[in-house]
Amino acid sequence: MRMLVFSTQSYDRVALDRANAGFGHALEYLETRLDRHTATLARGAPAVCVFVNDVLDAETLALLYEGGTRLIALRCAGYNQVDLRAADALELTVVRVPAYSPHAVAEHAVALILCLDRKLHRAYNRVRENNFRLDGLEGFDLFGKTIGVIGTGRIGSVFARIMLGFGCRVLACDAAGVDASLLQAGVEARALSPLLADSDIVSLHCPLTPDTYHLIDESALSAMRPGAMLINTSRGGLLDTAAVVRALKQGQLGALGLDVYEQEGDLFFEDLSDRIVPDDVFQRLLTFPNVLITGHQAFLTREALTAIAVTTLQNVRDFEAGVACANRITSALLQPAAS
Ligand code: NAI
Repeated sequence: MRMLVFSTQSYDRVALDRANAGFGHALEYLETRLDRHTATLARGAPAVCVFVNDVLDAETLALLYEGGTRLIALRCAGYNQVDLRAADALELTVVRVPAYSPHAVAEHAVALILCLDRKLHRAYNRVRENNFRLDGLEGFDLFGKTIGVIGTGRIGSVFARIMLGFGCRVLACDAAGVDASLLQAGVEARALSPLLADSDIVSLHCPLTPDTYHLIDESALSAMRPGAMLINTSRGGLLDTAAVVRALKQGQLGALGLDVYEQEGDLFFEDLSDRIVPDDVFQRLLTFPNVLITGHQAFLTREALTAIAVTTLQNVRDFEAGVACANRITSALLQPAAS
């Protein structure tokens, strides 16, 4: 099937071309992001493939439909960038890659924690300048600390088990309940408020939905332990970033590790090193020594890229063959019980 791949990076192309040897789809690559201004580029393509910062609002979907597109293949797990109700109304099929490597994202969350805790980002720069002083680099043992995990699906459950391995006490909350196997492994189920109040480190692993938008706002931040660390590898919109900046300034938040940012669509996946970035909130975040930001790279492992490519191309094959695809998503996912 002919498929236009939007927001292509070099690593996408390598992984998709390699996997496509076993599928034979006609793939065409564009670096352009898909939104209402670029949707007409897909005219005549029955399928489009998109990533996290493409914008599939009702207008974009209608333009795609008018151009003959019938399949939207997300090469990611999150689907907050798609207006699923509008897609359903147009009878557009939307498929995603629900699981590729939960380990990739969970391990990146751990990398952010270790780097912030042991100040590796600062130590790296000091040593490169032959500054071998240690003052200001003091960290804490993870052993014995309390970790709060919000969302214990595929990624959150892997993350929780890794933290148990460090000898941490792990508290977890999940809208659908914490899985029995995690409880057996030693994870303790908590409601959100006590989890925030009792955790030294809070890590977010729930999806962005209308229910979870700004889940961590001013009141959630003030409910956290003073000086606690907050990690977000899920979606930027889970945090009220302006409130987070205030909590950092007050010292209420002790450290912040982000792989996602609410306005990342204007920044991430581009080289803006010779430009002025006009986002004052993002620029303010970069001034804190206890803030570490990566540009949505938690998924970026060899294993994950291969799995994403294979599942995406299989989803397209299923659609083409008229087979019911297990990875199809509809607006039914937006109901609170199913989120
Ligand atoms: P999943 O669907 O397996 O798990 C999400 C869990 O969150 C579910 O168990 C659900 O019940 C729970 N949940 C929903 N609303 C909640 C709430 N209000 N409070 C507590 N729990 C709630 O999803 P998975 O695969 O674990 O991915 C989690 C998120 O990670 C994705 O939605 C995506 O946004 C993000 N992600 C980020 C990547 C990156 O590169 N930074 C890559 C892949 C995913």
